[in-house]
Amino acid sequence: MELQNNTGTKPTHVDILLTHIGQLLTMNHDHDQPVTGEQMNHVPMLEDAVVGIKDGRIAYIGQMQDQTTQQIKSDQMIDCKGKLVTPGLVDPHTHLVFGGSREHEFDLKLKGIPYLDILAQGGGILSTVEMTRRATEDELYDKATFHLERMLSYGMTTIEAKSGYGLDRETELKQLRVVKRLQQEQDTDIVSTFLGAHAIPKEWKQDPDGMLDLMIDILDEVKREELAEFVDIFCETGVFTVEQSKRYLAAAKDKGFGLKIHADEIDPLGGTELAAALGATSADHLVGSSDNGIEQLAANKVTAVLLPGTSFYLGKTEHARARTMIENQVSVALSTDFNPGSSPTENIQFIMNLAALQLKMNPAEVWNAVTVNAAHAINRGHSVGQIREGWQADVVLWDAPNYQYIPYHYGVNHVNTVIKKGKIKVVRGCRQDEF
Ligand code: NIG
Ligand code: FE
Repeated sequence: MELQNNTGTKPTHVDILLTHIGQLLTMNHDHDQPVTGEQMNHVPMLEDAVVGIKDGRIAYIGQMQDQTTQQIKSDQMIDCKGKLVTPGLVDPHTHLVFGGSREHEFDLKLKGIPYLDILAQGGGILSTVEMTRRATEDELYDKATFHLERMLSYGMTTIEAKSGYGLDRETELKQLRVVKRLQQEQDTDIVSTFLGAHAIPKEWKQDPDGMLDLMIDILDEVKREELAEFVDIFCETGVFTVEQSKRYLAAAKDKGFGLKIHADEIDPLGGTELAAALGATSADHLVGSSDNGIEQLAANKVTAVLLPGTSFYLGKTEHARARTMIENQVSVALSTDFNPGSSPTENIQFIMNLAALQLKMNPAEVWNAVTVNAAHAINRGHSVGQIREGWQADVVLWDAPNYQYIPYHYGVNHVNTVIKKGKIKVVRGCRQDEF
């Protein structure tokens, strides 16, 4: 493969050449850490740029006027007409694999019945558990593929996917095996998380600690079959307490898993502090995080994964305090939380709109949160979320003149073309260069 390297060798022939890029967000901050504080307000970019792709990788980054650029030959040219090009987006928190849907509970929600009340009555997550237990592995695979393809059409080329709609050994493993098959057969990169402690089904209502013992036991099988990298728990009123979450996550850490936690989503219980104390890779939701919790996240380098779509969909007036987090040097990432209950959407672009409007994140911060920091939230900060020579070619061309345009113009899909691992996967954009 001809790649530019430190000795200055340039490729002469590439598979795809993207030319006349108005803004190329490389998101390359020249270090390999998550981005924090003032740095989040900076978007590394090249204007009037060119990107060459060869053998699935970024082979060349340059500018139109460079002499080397003039000499490159390409099998396929894409004239970007002054538009925006970015890395493929990374979604670090999805519940991708589940049976059915929950529109039959939508009326209850609209009547004002709270999310946790629906769950306490055996609905919510537990409805999806019923449907997931009944579904075959093939049915789950086909349905997840549908959602995955829709995610790709919105520019998401790497995602995390959680189990958590089985709550028994058989179904949890079934969900994780579906993820494994998706990893093998689909182009989208998927990072797998075991969320066996997602809710308490009726058979464990009287003995949640017994259920956690079972889930800890399942972890050995998960490890042996390499079915997940991370372990997650829903630490919430009526689900698992901070103490239970601590015991469970500590056991998962001992077994060599990375940690994630649904923390302080609805009630502020202190899951944020727990994530920091255990050295979790990410703490997710964080609507009710305390000042101390936020400081602890920064001190322990835990990435905050914020899910404004969930607050929006649950009709909450309070939102995660992104500004306080950024001011306190917490690395902030964004995600859809795609799931059938609290956030049924595959549209990360809408989440970017919400992050700007509700979390008061500026466009530069939003872009760092869906690329570099999202990649770090799933331990992929060294391979995706940036456009760098030698890195996998996950690239999105947008029908937009600049990066501010995406969080600004809301509710529609701005994707023109998605390239995953050097293959053109989605072409849907408009031809013209005016917006
Ligand atoms: O992240 N909070 C727990 N889990 C999901 C919702 C899952 C569901 O409602 O099906 C969440 O909000
Ligand atoms: Fe979630």
